[in-house]
Amino acid sequence: MNNFLFAGCDTVELAKKYKTPLYVMSEDYIIDRCAEIRGDFLEKYPRTMAVYASKAFLTKEMARIIKREGLGIDVVSGGELYTAIKVDFPMDKIIFHGNNKTIEELELAIENNVGRIVVDHIEEIQLIEDIAKKHKKKVKILFRISPGLDIQTHKYIQTGQVDSKFGIPLTEETIETAVKKALSMENIELLGFHFHIGSQLLENDTHIKAIRIMIELMKVVKDKFGFITKELNTGGGYGIHYVEGEKRKSLSYFTDSMMKEVEKSCEDYGLERPLIIIEPGRWIVGEAGITLYTIGAIKEIPGIRTYVSVDGGMPDNPRPSLYQAKYDAVVANKVNEEATETVTIAGKCCESGDILIWDLKVPRLERGDILAVLSTGAYNYSMSSNYNRIPRPAVVMLKDGKDRLIVKRESYEDLLRNDI
Ligand code: LLP
Repeated sequence: MNNFLFAGCDTVELAKKYKTPLYVMSEDYIIDRCAEIRGDFLEKYPRTMAVYASKAFLTKEMARIIKREGLGIDVVSGGELYTAIKVDFPMDKIIFHGNNKTIEELELAIENNVGRIVVDHIEEIQLIEDIAKKHKKKVKILFRISPGLDIQTHKYIQTGQVDSKFGIPLTEETIETAVKKALSMENIELLGFHFHIGSQLLENDTHIKAIRIMIELMKVVKDKFGFITKELNTGGGYGIHYVEGEKRKSLSYFTDSMMKEVEKSCEDYGLERPLIIIEPGRWIVGEAGITLYTIGAIKEIPGIRTYVSVDGGMPDNPRPSLYQAKYDAVVANKVNEEATETVTIAGKCCESGDILIWDLKVPRLERGDILAVLSTGAYNYSMSSNYNRIPRPAVVMLKDGKDRLIVKRESYEDLLRNDI
């Protein structure tokens, strides 16, 4: 067999059947990650909760899989929330984030009894209180805190530093105002705190530091207001494999060390351990996905480089142009052929920056070859656009060696759907 198999399926056959570009996801892989979360975190540690950060990849079918696997879901917009509602996702397992939730989004969340709202700024408390009062509901909230940590990742995906649009800065004054205000509200129940320090982290040290800081904070609010923190949400951020040299760590590499720090810090400060929440996104779906493209124009600039263009690019994967993200790929119909050339994989957009991979080693290529870009399961479909009026690819899910369509390919008519 000269074809690349992914999750037991022949990717060249998938490309023929569904056309390209095509997002291909492995349900088996997603289920394995969810099982790891249950076994190594939820069942290992009592009073814990795991929610999937759906911004990484969400469709109705994905929400159904997460529901079946018993995890919760983290949403950051009315659209993500609506998707979850549409598959009858258990509302108490939904956490609603966002640094600027609109009144309409808060209404949708509160009307539907969303499990928790993570409050990102002090002013939001009153908005929630007013809507909750109107609907005669009591809303559970956590405060998102920016713990003031700078981390080693691309600056656009750092989120926990002081100079950030996210969260309430960790100063005594702001925390005091926030906690006092929340505790004075009739229709709000303050459960605790949340932090998310960034994404694609391959080491656990920043999570551990952040935990220590947050538990110190729990001690301060206990001493000042007698407020006992019931829940601590530690966000996501666990990294995956994209290119050589990077390796996805086991969940327990992050969670065991965090739980150890939680236990230790709580003991040091004489606090009872709160319920601990994790919110991985990329770690669950990143390596579960690949994108298949058909190779078209091949342009050799002698002595400089060879540009190999594919039938997708920036609209289905904006990460290389946004974050200089690196990807690996294989030529799906030539996996056993020796890589003898180095080429640059370009997208088809009218944009010089639309390059998917610089300097990829490949066998001799020709028009019609199928390229499989790896680890595209997270933040590809969810960040896709119609730039250059290019329709979005279909999404196919693989399970037990069988394929099924979960999102149809957009048509030209779909592009015109809302045009007046
Ligand atoms: N929880 C919160 C509150 C978050 O803001 C995020 C990601 C997550 C959980 C999940 O993070 P993960 O486990 O997936 O790293 N578009 C960027 C990533 C942005 C992540 C934003 N927040 C990218 O393509 O790299």
